[in-house]
Amino acid sequence: MPDDVVLKIEKLAYGGEGLGFVDGKVCFVEGALPGETVRARVSQSKQNYAKGRLLEVLEKSHHREEPPCPYVQDCGGCQYQHLAYSEELRWKEIQVREHLERFLKLPGSRVSPIRSGASPYGYRNSVTLHETAPSPKPQQFGFVGRDNRTTLCVDNCLITDPRLRPVFTEKRLLRKGEDRISLRVGENGMIFSGREDQLFSMRIGDESILTSSRGFFQNNLEITRQIGQTARAWVQSAQPRLFADLYAGAGTFTILAAEGVPELMCLEESPASFGALKENFRIRGLKADLIEGLAEKSFPRYLKRKPRENIFVFVDPPRTGMSADLSEFLAQEPSLRHLVYLSCHLGTLTRDLGRILAKKRHEILEVIPFDMFPRTKHIEAAVFMRRL
Ligand SMILES: C[S@@+](CC[C@H](N)C(=O)[O-])C[C@H]1O[C@@H](n2cnc3c(N)ncnc32)[C@H](O)[C@@H]1O
Repeated sequence: MPDDVVLKIEKLAYGGEGLGFVDGKVCFVEGALPGETVRARVSQSKQNYAKGRLLEVLEKSHHREEPPCPYVQDCGGCQYQHLAYSEELRWKEIQVREHLERFLKLPGSRVSPIRSGASPYGYRNSVTLHETAPSPKPQQFGFVGRDNRTTLCVDNCLITDPRLRPVFTEKRLLRKGEDRISLRVGENGMIFSGREDQLFSMRIGDESILTSSRGFFQNNLEITRQIGQTARAWVQSAQPRLFADLYAGAGTFTILAAEGVPELMCLEESPASFGALKENFRIRGLKADLIEGLAEKSFPRYLKRKPRENIFVFVDPPRTGMSADLSEFLAQEPSLRHLVYLSCHLGTLTRDLGRILAKKRHEILEVIPFDMFPRTKHIEAAVFMRRL
């Protein structure tokens, strides 16, 4: 392939790169948009695909916009600020549909329209800031850059909750010996770091849910509320005997979705999140089996000890997905009648669902993409399945 190429961009691939063809070979160009003709310098040429660096947009898409953030060229956080938000949503929905069609042979009609929040900016309630090399800026920390190596000092970040923004210009945020810090803004506007293990509350719709400063919490609470509502409708349609939340965190989705289910069980491996989970149930007077442990080990053991019928399983694993053992178990165990898989990574989602569907005992009823992370390449998807 020549060093510089001219190509027409046909679509936006999962990850946000423009995709076109050069001499029949797929070429990904970061920053290029569908409908555009661009000139790119080939930076990588493999057998099946190439990657190019955008040099010039020869014919511009009418959906191209000026990114509002001045750091967007160097910061690794956002991939879609140069695209109209309605188009970002449209392409994310297509990415989910195509991914599931391609890897699971799922008819595209099972994927519902993507759901989004009121604004694509100001939604993130947490940030992780990394130490920089010494710089002229007063603050010596920032975000990991687009090159994945350098750290970029920023005075602001438009996708974060405005109440977090003062931290970007603090002089002494990192203490001696720290190379990063994670901060989250709570319901009352106070900012908490993971330095001390503290419980504080986050508001999702009508619920005030405690989280630990050292544990996981969802980043976009408006979308979390929408997912909770959707899951609640699915649970109500299924009328289960037991709701089992296997990657429960602080218990968010049991609280949002499982009201009225006769029995509840939550499983969580992080001791910090488990502490918040127990407290959330104690305050509400909710009775549940709460287990601190690994889903893949503890869930099969739990059901062996206490067998049940008509179980609704909710899984929301980390980006890495579920273990093969757990997918196998969920596929085989007949008492697990319904399953919701909430995922922030299409690759591990289709891998895990592929393992479940391979047993031919389940069908996917609905997939809903949610724009949990506007302006970035990330997509959240909720998949509702039932046992045949
Ligand atoms: C994506 S978060 C979801 C948490 C929760 N559903 C929520 O919305 O807040 C994944 C959670 O799974 C926990 N986790 C990770 N691996 C696990 C495992 N093998 N077994 C049980 N929990 C695990 C993490 O500590 C984290 O709290």
